[in-house]
Amino acid sequence: MRHHYVLPDISKPGKIGCSLPALDVPASDLPSKDALRQDLALPQVSEVELIRYFTDLSRLNYGLDTGFYPLGSCTMKYNPKLHEDVAVLSGFTSVHPYQPDKSVQGALQLMFELQGLLTEITGMNMTSLSPMGGAQGELANILMLKAYFRDKKDLKRKRILVPDTAHGTNPATAAMCGFEITAVPSDADGNLDLEKLKSMLNDEVIAITLTMPTTLGLFDPHIEEINQLVHKCGALLCGDGANLNSLIGKVKFGDMGFDCVQLNLHKTFSTPHGGGGPGSGPVCVKEHLADFLPSPIVAKQGDAYTFMTPSKSVGRLGSAYGNFGVIVKAYAYILSLGAAGMKQVSENAVINANYIKEKLKDSYYLPYDRTCMHEVIFAEKWQKAVGISTMDVAKRLLDYGFHPPTVYFPLVVEGALMIEPTETESKETLDAFIEAMKTIAKEAKENPDILHSAPHNTPVKRLDEVAAARKPDLRWKMTK
Ligand SMILES: Cc1ncc(COP(=O)(O)O)c(C=O)c1O
Repeated sequence: MRHHYVLPDISKPGKIGCSLPALDVPASDLPSKDALRQDLALPQVSEVELIRYFTDLSRLNYGLDTGFYPLGSCTMKYNPKLHEDVAVLSGFTSVHPYQPDKSVQGALQLMFELQGLLTEITGMNMTSLSPMGGAQGELANILMLKAYFRDKKDLKRKRILVPDTAHGTNPATAAMCGFEITAVPSDADGNLDLEKLKSMLNDEVIAITLTMPTTLGLFDPHIEEINQLVHKCGALLCGDGANLNSLIGKVKFGDMGFDCVQLNLHKTFSTPHGGGGPGSGPVCVKEHLADFLPSPIVAKQGDAYTFMTPSKSVGRLGSAYGNFGVIVKAYAYILSLGAAGMKQVSENAVINANYIKEKLKDSYYLPYDRTCMHEVIFAEKWQKAVGISTMDVAKRLLDYGFHPPTVYFPLVVEGALMIEPTETESKETLDAFIEAMKTIAKEAKENPDILHSAPHNTPVKRLDEVAAARKPDLRWKMTK
């Protein structure tokens, strides 16, 4: 087992980890005595110990570069290092948002072209890159819908329908914009319950927000019918395209009848999702919503690129023009993969998820036994019968060296294990994960205690999750 460098243990009075050069400037006076601390609780360690301590800490971090990361819905997808290099080219990093347009034509051209690429990928008519994340893209969508109906003087629509499987940001956004929310239940196959939907649609409904693929990782085959029902009652179809990596190059939101959709560039298009890093949630709309897009968008006049504000814009969503670094990476991703590469992304994402589904469905209960899209969802039913929870399975996976999948989401599946392998994982990696999951299912029956007390091989054992969230201990303190 590896030795861990714990600062209080290696700290000894008198050890020093740095040497300062001789003073070559005039010494200045120290502050008065009572302003100086006599005891400073800092560890005293040698240089090599300090380096080992930090290197050791860095190795405790689990990430996409260290192992398989099957976190469904919010997963770390393919984020090529090449695109990081492109995004930090000095021509991109040293421009200022308020430079005159004519001095940043290259940056504007890139934005203009990305608008066009995303418009084509989604089958829409116009795109704004300005939202800074998925939830902000959803906000932009709902603000546009609100402005659109106000503009038509249709003021009675105050309800948004949201499937019961939806990501929490969907109802939260609708509520933020002042709408009443009605949850549309799913049917036994995991699709939207069409009969229930019909009973809910009337002239008070402004829209339904629909995630595709759904947050059950499924393609709803009734989309055409949903599209007709929703539009027939005068409402609009608002898409959540946060997880595009199973549709890209295959199916377009515009062709499915959606009026608007937000994308998460920080999931599908080469920026890691999660960890609080930068995001970008462009919104792509059909012609009738184009005037309402959040500003600015980039237009081309003659040979020149320029920022412009759509005539009935819902306004700005941030201080500048969106998250430019993320925008650059998305552009590089699309161009480097090309149309054929994008299609392959979707095919690989779907085949990898279905491979896991087929291999694990004898070990874990599969609530919807049908072809899935980019992710597959199991339930804890069979493990629960022997006293094992989804959390026990997730913790035990850590012992086998894997990051656990998303757990307990979506809420409609009891004890959900939402596994998204992503398009880039090899068969060997998938097989190793499947093997670990099968072993855990066996352990659940034969040696449940080993799961209850897992993880055993990690530097920190099972945490009090509530205390960790409510009272995070983020600062190192000298305790000895
Ligand atoms: C389906 C769906 N919609 C919306 C979001 C929100 O995106 P963001 O985290 O960028 O706000 C997510 C995030 O994971 C998501 O999975």
